[in-house]
Amino acid sequence: MTTNYDAELRRYNEVLRRACGVQPQEHVLDIGCGSGQTTRQAARAASAGSALGVDISPPAIERARELARAEGLRNVSFEHADAQVHRFPQQRFDLVTSRFGTMFFDDPAAAFANIRRALRPAGRLVILVWQSGEHNEWNVAVRQSLPEPQEPAAGPDPFSLADPPAVKRILDAAGFADITFTDVHEPVYYGRDVAAALDWVHGFTCTREALNRLPPAAADHALGRLRETLSAHLTDDGVWFNSRAWLITAHHP
Ligand SMILES: C[S@@+](CC[C@H](N)C(=O)[O-])C[C@H]1O[C@@H](n2cnc3c(N)ncnc32)[C@H](O)[C@@H]1O
Repeated sequence: MTTNYDAELRRYNEVLRRACGVQPQEHVLDIGCGSGQTTRQAARAASAGSALGVDISPPAIERARELARAEGLRNVSFEHADAQVHRFPQQRFDLVTSRFGTMFFDDPAAAFANIRRALRPAGRLVILVWQSGEHNEWNVAVRQSLPEPQEPAAGPDPFSLADPPAVKRILDAAGFADITFTDVHEPVYYGRDVAAALDWVHGFTCTREALNRLPPAAADHALGRLRETLSAHLTDDGVWFNSRAWLITAHHP
């Protein structure tokens, strides 16, 4: 089996599922749903309600639809949309959730305000985001195996919502209330063996960019170091790294 987010984040999935506590009548919106595992899970719990997953990536939405069709779920739908500006139905949803899909907004306060308007009054937000890069062993280990970038990466920042006071200001500005942060400390899974884990890590933008900058011999050397790092994290149950996330909850007043 090749690694994917569902495999990588399986321990976090359970934490999010419990925190969401989806009820049978509820309508759920999943932001940055990827291939939709969390949306399908919400749809199964909301047996008399519904779940909508949105993602900015057309292939992710295509895959999410395929998987939902294969499962025969009738109360789930997926839309290709930029959650920052998409015109969601107003005050429609009881719950907005996201498994690591809200860290990539250009203007987070405007994006979260847009998302809040989709929640009914007293509706809840329950999302997972990464804590800072240095609190995430997977990030530290991968970066230490690769040469230091000359300039900070310009692309999307998975750690953009790592700082609770800053995130509280963003969610306050977006009109949310009762904002809470819970420290979640779970391992992430990178693959059943070192080859599978290397394949998964090779797909990260930071890895690809770092390797592409190097001449071939230096890139081989860096890959060798990465392989050693992954081997050091190989257990009987595959390659695992420690990680830390915030479970953030808030309400639409
Ligand atoms: C780390 S992945 C997580 C995917 C999924 N939630 C999961 O756990 O498998 C982040 C996802 O957010 C999506 N995304 C990023 N910016 C977005 C935006 N502005 N609107 C909607 N989706 C977005 C990406 O396309 C990607 O699928």
